[in-house]
Amino acid sequence: MTDRLVFAGPASKEFAKALAHRLNLPTISVEIKEFLDTETKYRFLENVDGSNVLLVQSTYPPVDKNYMQLFLAAHHLSQEGAKVHAVIPYLGYARQDKPFLSGEVVSLGVVSHLLKSCGVVRVTTVDIHSAEGLALFAMPTYSVSAIPSLVSYVKKNLNLSSPVVVSPDFGSSKRTEAFAALYGAQHLQFAKERNRNTGEVKVETGKMDIEGRDVIIVDDMISTGGTIRAAAMKLKEARVKRIIVTCVHALMLGDSEERLMEAGVDEIIGTNTVPNRVSKVDATEPLSAYLKTVSE
Ligand code: R5P
Repeated sequence: MTDRLVFAGPASKEFAKALAHRLNLPTISVEIKEFLDTETKYRFLENVDGSNVLLVQSTYPPVDKNYMQLFLAAHHLSQEGAKVHAVIPYLGYARQDKPFLSGEVVSLGVVSHLLKSCGVVRVTTVDIHSAEGLALFAMPTYSVSAIPSLVSYVKKNLNLSSPVVVSPDFGSSKRTEAFAALYGAQHLQFAKERNRNTGEVKVETGKMDIEGRDVIIVDDMISTGGTIRAAAMKLKEARVKRIIVTCVHALMLGDSEERLMEAGVDEIIGTNTVPNRVSKVDATEPLSAYLKTVSE
C-alpha cells in the first residue's frame, strides 16, 4: 500500500506513535490547541490528498470530547482528499448497541452515522464489547483481539499455579474461554444480573470448589468496577488464593481501583487502549499485525 500516514489523535499520542513505529509509517504534522472550554482546534500542515490516513484516537472518558476530536480531524482529512481509516482502540458507546429498555437510544449506531458523515471509510477497534455492535457500522469494521497479548503478559510476569479463569458474566464468556484455552487453564462461568435502572450488579456463581487456587478474572472492560468487585467478593467467600484481574479496556473510573483492592483483588492488568497506571499490555502489537493485512 502506498502513501499511508498516521494521524495521532490527542487522546492517543503515545499509542499512535508506537503503532506508526511498528508499521514503519510517518505521522502527520499538526498543530493542536485545546481550549479551557474543552473545544479543540487543529491546523494541519501537510498535503494529504491521495493518502490513506490511519486516524488513531481512542474514545475513553471524556468520551464525547474524544469523539469530537476524531470527527473534526476525520472531516478535515477526508475533505482534503485523504481516505480516512479510523483506528479507535477503545470504542466508546459500544455497550449501547441496542435498546435494553424501551426508548433507549442506540448510541453506537449514531456514532457509526457520524463517522460515515465525516468521511471515515473503514474502522478498526480492539475487543469491541459485543460482536453484534459491528453490524451497526456502515463501513468495513473489524475488532482485533488483545486477549492473546494479555495471556502472554500473565504467563511471563506472574507465577500462578494452575489458575482458574473466571468469566464474570455471559457477555464475556467467549473472550474468557479464549483466554483459558490459550493459557491452558480451567474456565469457570459466573452469571451477572445488572439492574438496568440503578446499575446495581449481582453475581451468581453456582457451586465452586476452588479453595486455595489462583484466579484470573477476564473481562472486556472495567468501568466503575462493580462487575469485577461483585465477582471478587464471591471468590473471596470461596477462599481462593490470589485474584488477578485482566481486561482490555481499564477505564478505572472514580475510586474503582481502591474498591477492587478492598474486595480482595491483588492485581489489575489492562492494555494501553486506555492509558493509565494499570495499562501494562501493549495492544499496538495485535493491531499492527492486523493493519499490515489491510489493503485500502
Ligand atoms: C458488561 O457487560 C461489560 O462486559 C463489563 O463487565 C462492564 O461494562 C463493566 O462495567 P463496570 O466496571 O461498571 O461493572
